[in-house]
Amino acid sequence: MLERVKTGIPGFDEILYGGIPKRNVVLLSGGPGTGKTIFGQQYLWNGLQLGEPGIYVALEEHPVQVRLNMKQFGWDVKNYEREGTFAIIDAFTGGIGEAAKREKYVVRNPGDIDQLIGVLRQAIRETGAVRVVVDSVSTIYLTRPVIARDVVLKLKKVLSGMGTTSILISQVSVTERGFGGPGVEHAADGIVRLDLDEYSGELYRSLIVWKMRGTKHSMRRHPFEITDKGIIVYHNKVFKGGPGGAKIIELR
Ligand SMILES: Nc1ncnc2c1ncn2[C@@H]1O[C@H](COP(=O)(O)OP(=O)(O)OP(=O)(O)O)[C@@H](O)[C@H]1O
Ligand SMILES: [Mg+2]
Repeated sequence: MLERVKTGIPGFDEILYGGIPKRNVVLLSGGPGTGKTIFGQQYLWNGLQLGEPGIYVALEEHPVQVRLNMKQFGWDVKNYEREGTFAIIDAFTGGIGEAAKREKYVVRNPGDIDQLIGVLRQAIRETGAVRVVVDSVSTIYLTRPVIARDVVLKLKKVLSGMGTTSILISQVSVTERGFGGPGVEHAADGIVRLDLDEYSGELYRSLIVWKMRGTKHSMRRHPFEITDKGIIVYHNKVFKGGPGGAKIIELR
């Protein structure tokens, strides 16, 4: 029997026929404001509710800001951090500033992948994490695209090897069709793409599972919403956008 990790994101596990196959490394890609960070944080929070420890690697935002943002969705991680089942790895501040001095896990030079992996291994060991989110991997290789594949493969070795089921957030520009470059796209076990598209003056959110090793999955583009409780995916609706505009079709 294939072991799966439930994301707990309403509608999303249905699209994957039960959840993400255990130990998969999933590339979560999308343009700015498409909901990648919220998706990742919701995945970790839902794990904590099931007693599954988790780690969020913050490369884009200050850990203090991460805690605040999560709290706004009702995901207060304070107690989990205190009991040691949740950790934020600070790969943002470089250890600079008063607030950074209070962080337990700090990567002084986030551009140094081996240093980041060292801190990550220690954090996984100490928390017993089974879910990890890296937000975002693009930050690590943004100015050095040639190392992208190497970075993802190194992360995969550790994340999958230590038994975690992980999400690597990948930033793409608004007009880019891909998911973050050929190197990382092939190295990942799964690819989920979040989109935000404008049709006649309105923005529509939708997502599609492009690949997921080890399972069948929906081959359709599904609409989703972001609410103040997080993401809701409409697994029984299909999003169709074309020259004629946007259409949402109910499946039955
Ligand atoms: N409480 C809320 N209710 C509804 N929508 C919200 C709420 N909070 C945030 N959003 C939406 O979520 C978006 C931000 O989502 P998120 O931070 O996950 O994006 P992202 O894909 O990580 O973007 P980036 O690549 O810029 O980091 C906002 O632009 C807004 O549209
Ligand atoms: Mg983000």
